[in-house]
Amino acid sequence: MPSESLSPPDTTSQQQSESPYDQFAAAYNRHLGDFARRLAGRLERWLSIEPPLRVLDVCCGTGQLAHELTRRGFAVTGIDASAGMLALARANAPAATFLLGDVRSAPLPTGFPLAVSTFDSLNHLVGDGDLRAALANVARSLTPVGRFVFDLNLDEGYRRRWWGVWQISDEQRDFTVRAVYCPETRLARNLVTAVPRGRASSSSAFEAIEQWEFVERCYEPQEVRDALRQAGFAQVEQFDCQRDLGLIGEVGRALFVACNGASRSRQRAAVPSPRRLRQREQCQADGVWPAPATVREAGQASRRLRAIEDVLCRLPDEPYAVLCRRAGRLRWYVPHASVLGQVFPGAPRAARGDSAPAAFVYLAPELERQSAAVNRAVVAHELAHVILGHRLEDLDQPARDSQERAARQAVDDWGFKGENRVAENELRAGWFGCLSPAEATSASAARQGPNMHVDGEA
Ligand SMILES: C[S@@+](CC[C@H](N)C(=O)[O-])C[C@H]1O[C@@H](n2cnc3c(N)ncnc32)[C@H](O)[C@@H]1O
Repeated sequence: MPSESLSPPDTTSQQQSESPYDQFAAAYNRHLGDFARRLAGRLERWLSIEPPLRVLDVCCGTGQLAHELTRRGFAVTGIDASAGMLALARANAPAATFLLGDVRSAPLPTGFPLAVSTFDSLNHLVGDGDLRAALANVARSLTPVGRFVFDLNLDEGYRRRWWGVWQISDEQRDFTVRAVYCPETRLARNLVTAVPRGRASSSSAFEAIEQWEFVERCYEPQEVRDALRQAGFAQVEQFDCQRDLGLIGEVGRALFVACNGASRSRQRAAVPSPRRLRQREQCQADGVWPAPATVREAGQASRRLRAIEDVLCRLPDEPYAVLCRRAGRLRWYVPHASVLGQVFPGAPRAARGDSAPAAFVYLAPELERQSAAVNRAVVAHELAHVILGHRLEDLDQPARDSQERAARQAVDDWGFKGENRVAENELRAGWFGCLSPAEATSASAARQGPNMHVDGEA
């Protein structure tokens, strides 16, 4: 039973040798590569780039990124160590140029203003010095003001996502992949077993079963920064793909944006702040902004309104899209005077009416006395319930607690972790700790339940 390691051969002579990706290429092409597609759609906006910019796609695989970028008019050159992956890349992105080679040592064309590497390709560089060699090689291919954008799985990503067993197939074979991460050695393995499709009840089918593994190395962010500096990159920014950039499901995957050294004084690592992904006007057009009467009552200077705007504008694209789909069922209550005890107990009844809103978000006026961070935390938390489709009525306490935990986790993941921590410290009595003592009775009712609820899915 053959067994190979993914780490590519030491020299460019690997152009004649095989990569374990060769035999996995068709299945990879069919089922994986989605991350590259998702990223491609965002690069133009994040990096403020326009076609026909030249882009080097480092470890380009089956060319999903190249396809998306060439479709948009960019001039893409891809390099990869697997001939099998490249054969499919050429079919997927015929307008791109592809080179077979090892990113650590292959002579690369020069003059690229941008290089990109997606889907933990650089984690595949497992030997000491490999990452630095690859980064230095890429740096040489860039213009003096060029940038290199790449993602890497970090320890958190391996711990949270790299486990279990999954299956994919191509036309000939089923692949079972067992993922294991060892925090001590900081190596992650995908052990692949390939079984011929159909009835495998023959000795030839039995003999055709193969196993091999892909190995990845978990780098510390500081190691990456050091390697970048040694390779000549001057300025580095790091983002978490899920928390900062809204790529749901990609927690613990860091996106690095590094600027070539010669550009030190002139360059900004140009992913715009993920803090604001859209403007209030868009939220109004999308129907998620509070109705004019609500805004009038809250008052223009309302802290709660500013928090609504901040959260809506900073919410990553994917949860924001879900919210937009529910816009017709979302109602904000941002009253000037305290109506807790009137509005809240009435809300479940109102929500059952025919034309009643299904998602009811009540922000108590007492929040005006809380900090902006607390306001954002509360708004994000309530929207998390709406986006996650939580049903908050008629639930027992364990189910309610579990939804609360899920909402808090989502708020963390969407980039409001700091706000969550501030709110936890400042609202010691819980989310409704901002209520005055006189409202304690109503507040205790509110603590039993949330300040909004969702009547199931549309
Ligand atoms: C997980 S795939 C990612 C492919 C592609 N970037 C994507 O986003 O779908 C990793 C790729 O890195 C390539 N690779 C691994 N080590 C390499 C090396 N030293 N030089 C060039 N390519 C390498 C593999 O052949 C494979 O195509």
